[in-house]
Amino acid sequence: MSQTREQMALGLKYAPGRDSGLRDAAASENKSLPIHRWVPWIAGFSAQLVEDALRAYLPRSASGGRKRHLILDPFAGVGTTLIEAIKAGHDAVGYEINPFAALVAEAKINCISVHPADLRAEVEAFRYAMFRFEPEVDASWSSGSLDALLGGRKEMWALRPAAFKSRIPFFSAPVEAKFLYALARTGMLLEPDRSLFRAALGATMVSFSNYSYEPSLASRPGSGKALIENASVAAPVCRKLEEMLTDIEWARQNYSYAWLSARREVHERSYFESELPSGSVSLVVTSPPYMNNYHYVRNTRPQLHWLGLIADGGTRPLEETSFGKFWQTVRQGKSVSLEFSDPAMDSLLNDLRARNPEKGYYGGSGWANYVATYLNDTSRFVTSLRGHLRTGGHAVVVVGNSIIQGIEFKVDHLLAEMAVRVGLRLVDIHIVRTKRVGNSIIDSSVRNGDVNGHRNKTQLYDAAVVLRK
Ligand SMILES: C[S@@+](CC[C@H](N)C(=O)[O-])C[C@H]1O[C@@H](n2cnc3c(N)ncnc32)[C@H](O)[C@@H]1O
Repeated sequence: MSQTREQMALGLKYAPGRDSGLRDAAASENKSLPIHRWVPWIAGFSAQLVEDALRAYLPRSASGGRKRHLILDPFAGVGTTLIEAIKAGHDAVGYEINPFAALVAEAKINCISVHPADLRAEVEAFRYAMFRFEPEVDASWSSGSLDALLGGRKEMWALRPAAFKSRIPFFSAPVEAKFLYALARTGMLLEPDRSLFRAALGATMVSFSNYSYEPSLASRPGSGKALIENASVAAPVCRKLEEMLTDIEWARQNYSYAWLSARREVHERSYFESELPSGSVSLVVTSPPYMNNYHYVRNTRPQLHWLGLIADGGTRPLEETSFGKFWQTVRQGKSVSLEFSDPAMDSLLNDLRARNPEKGYYGGSGWANYVATYLNDTSRFVTSLRGHLRTGGHAVVVVGNSIIQGIEFKVDHLLAEMAVRVGLRLVDIHIVRTKRVGNSIIDSSVRNGDVNGHRNKTQLYDAAVVLRK
């Protein structure tokens, strides 16, 4: 079993995917890779897939070496593509609409300018302060005098997000006090250390809350788990910061100059508002949200609110500008039509719209609005891609199929068809992963077909659609 260079350096283990040109799209391998492992992000693809794409789809110079290219990720998430592009000596630009993901991606691409000795001193000071404060909280909580302990700490309570609502208290009282104390301390730090501390708090906060990822955010009792009455905040946060320190030292040893001199940008806004010059991008490696209604915005509400990343308008503006929107945002609106002409897609949508009318907008009509919105955004996306790619440039777009109200949507094929319609060439569609776990809301367990009396379960898969301009 081979290891990547990074894993050997850190003594980490990784089981490589099949040798199919582009390795498995699953992001789970990212959990064992330096820097990528800092914050898990659902449906991120693996760093190995990006590495493979960079190798396969960038031109070599006449001398056999590589020249610097601009690599784009329009849906950058926590920055998998950007980090791999920079490590390979290229410039990287990303767009990400979710402020927490954008914070993490930004912290990662700029971590090279952190001075490990300074960061270590900050981590030690944080650890010392937290390890003094936490026993005081524990003691006063046991004796029923927590309010008295916290009464005078106005700077902490000012950080409590007034607009954040949850069915059950997100944190228990002592955990909340510890979290707010930790958060207040990060306010005293300077960049880039401050973003790293905030990313560490965001990456760990659900683990000591009364919620958990299942993979959507759910209350612990709702998923059969006990409430967390009290826990240390310092221990997991300091562990995460130690991990970051190790990885930053590793990055500085291995990539210092190339990384520091690379163009590295994450724009916290929609890709549809991009101002990149046309014809400037050599390679796009990206994965837009899947047509499975995974609600990135709702699932990061704790980080967005408690880290103070959204304004009073709440999460609604983010939901409205997210690629494909969300079923909850469009199901009740007036019927959404395709903004481009495609009789086959129209007929698929009409079929969906007619399903389960007795369920009202929970049936076909609501889901057809979601699918039409998703397809309209896919069409805008491939049009923008065509504009940004230089002639001869490639795009590797990882998407998954979906089964909605019993109808399979082969998103890879639909996207490829739209891309060809706007003038891109389809190079290939690689299935990079099968047996993807389905989303129960959309009935992924539906059975299709009836061959010789055997009903076949529709397979969920991830595919990399490779396009060329
Ligand atoms: C499948 S994830 C990408 C994960 C990424 N490949 C990684 O490894 O972290 C899709 C991302 O698109 C972001 N997104 C949704 N709509 C967007 C938009 N209009 N512009 C930019 N990003 C958007 C979501 O917040 C989410 O992080």
